[in-house]
This record gives sequence, C-alpha cells and structure tokens, in this order.
Amino acid sequence: MHNDPKNIVITGASSGIGEALARAYAAPGVTLHLAGRNADRLEAVADSVRQKNANAQIKVIDVADRDAMFAWIGAADDEAPLDLVIANAGIGLGKNDAPTLAELTERTFDTNVQGVFNTIHPALERMVPRRRGQVAIMSSVAGLLGMPGAAPYAASKAAVRSYGEGLRGAYHRHGVAINVICPGFVESGMTARNRFRMPFLMDADKAAHKIVRGLARNKARIAFPWQTYSFIRLLQMLPVAWADRLLRRSPQK
Ligand SMILES: NC(=O)c1ccc[n+]([C@@H]2O[C@H](COP(=O)([O-])OP(=O)(O)OC[C@H]3O[C@@H](n4cnc5c(N)ncnc54)[C@H](OP(=O)(O)O)[C@@H]3O)[C@@H](O)[C@H]2O)c1
Repeated sequence: MHNDPKNIVITGASSGIGEALARAYAAPGVTLHLAGRNADRLEAVADSVRQKNANAQIKVIDVADRDAMFAWIGAADDEAPLDLVIANAGIGLGKNDAPTLAELTERTFDTNVQGVFNTIHPALERMVPRRRGQVAIMSSVAGLLGMPGAAPYAASKAAVRSYGEGLRGAYHRHGVAINVICPGFVESGMTARNRFRMPFLMDADKAAHKIVRGLARNKARIAFPWQTYSFIRLLQMLPVAWADRLLRRSPQK
C-alpha cells in the first residue's frame, strides 16, 4: 500500500471520476499515465494535471484490447515501477444503445469486465515479484445487487467486485493491496445521460477525494455516499422476495 503514490495509471481518465482522480493525484514528482479513447479530452485532462506540476502521459487505447493493454502497462512500469493502478474505465449502456440484449451485455462485459482484467493482470504480473503495489477496481453499488433497470451493467460490476474481493485476500500475502470502489451516483459523462432522478448525486471531485482517502487507508471496499450504500445494504438483508418486489420499480437505464 502507498499513502503517497508517485507512478499511477488511471484508465477512463478522459472524463468523470477518472478525470477527477487524475487531478486529485496531480502533484510535483507524480507521474500520471492517463488512458481513454478520446485524445482531445485526454489531452485537456493532461494539461490540467501539468498545471499542478505533475508529469502526465496520455494513451489512446481501448481497454478491451488485451495485447495493447499488456504492452502499454508493461512499458509504463518499465519507465518507473507503478505504485497504483486504477481500473476505472467503464460504460453504462442504455437499453437503446444496442439492438439486442446479447450485444448490449457483450459490449458491457468487454469494457467493464475484460477491460478491468486487461488493466489489472499486467499490473499484478509486475507488482507481485517485487511485493509492492496497489490495484484499485472500479465497481459500483449497483454491483451489490441484481438491478432490473440495468441488469448487464450491475452484473459486470458484481463480477469485478467479487473478483477484486477475492484477489485482495489472495494477494495480501504477496504484499500487493487490492481495493474495490463502489460509488453511488456521481456526476459524470455516464450519469449526464440518465433521465431519472438520481438520489444523493455526488460531485466527481468529492467522489475522487473519497477514493483517494480510501485507497490511502487501504480500505477493502470504498463505498459512498453512505445513504445509498446503507440503503443497498438494507435491501441485501431483506428476504429476497421483498427485495425482488421493491427493485422491480427501479427506472430503466
Ligand atoms: N458516475 C456514476 O454514477 C458511477 C457510479 C458507480 C460506478 N461508476 C463507474 O465509474 C467509472 C467511470 O465512469 P464515469 O461515471 O466517470 O463515466 P464517464 O464520465 O463516462 O467516464 C468513463 C471513462 O471510461 C472511458 N472508457 C469507456 N470505455 C472505454 C474503453 N473501451 N476503453 C478505454 N476507455 C474507456 C471513457 O473514455 P473515452 O470516452 O475517452 O473512451 C471515460 O474516460 C466507470 O467504471 C463506471 O461504471 C460510475
């Protein structure tokens, strides 16, 4: 675990939570490797990071591209050993974003699950032999329950949450910290598209601050805001039939 990481990878850094995280970690002596698919937005984030006297390197890359991700993370680690890798890139497709449920689910899993694997596996290959490093996985409070309004998204977030929680225990003995992040609604490109009311919607900078603090404390699960997280925990404790009935009313993404 690193309270003061110097060499950091953030995927999905071109907007929303990833962009806010890049700014939150920017400081003299810090190198940020920032990835996304949109070069212009990434360059704008890199500029704001450089204004805080951090070193920023951008990479236009699709996290679903396994070989490219292994090559990029390996090269970043060759430059200087990575202290912290945040697998943040993700998509939240609506029901009209793909012609079939099959396609929508495959696209969601390609980015949100395979993309996380492609980020954390090359990082772990480097960190485990040197018994040092930290890997953060972006899940969601939606990954704690099946969600009728966004079943593929919630399932993808459940997969990476469970994987991260398992790996955390397994890699502790190798000196590598693994953390799972479970935000509720945060202002970002993703939530800007939502046409329903989002309770306790949080500003991205505030979310980034909570994530940075949680990672510095090596928390197993960094979940916020507490109101949304408590509500989900309560739903988890209800008899399944009751939760099923309640969740049926949730809005469709
Ligand atoms: N906002 C929320 O309420 C909320 C709540 C819980 C969890 N999350 C999670 O937080 C993460 C960040 O999302 P956000 O809310 O900040 O949304 P956002 O503003 O839409 O940001 C998503 C980021 O992921 C990148 N990305 C998406 N697909 C990619 C791909 N195939 N390859 C590389 N980069 C890709 C995007 O970059 P390009 O567009 O440049 O490709 C962008 O930088 C996601 O994993 C999301 O599921 C968000």
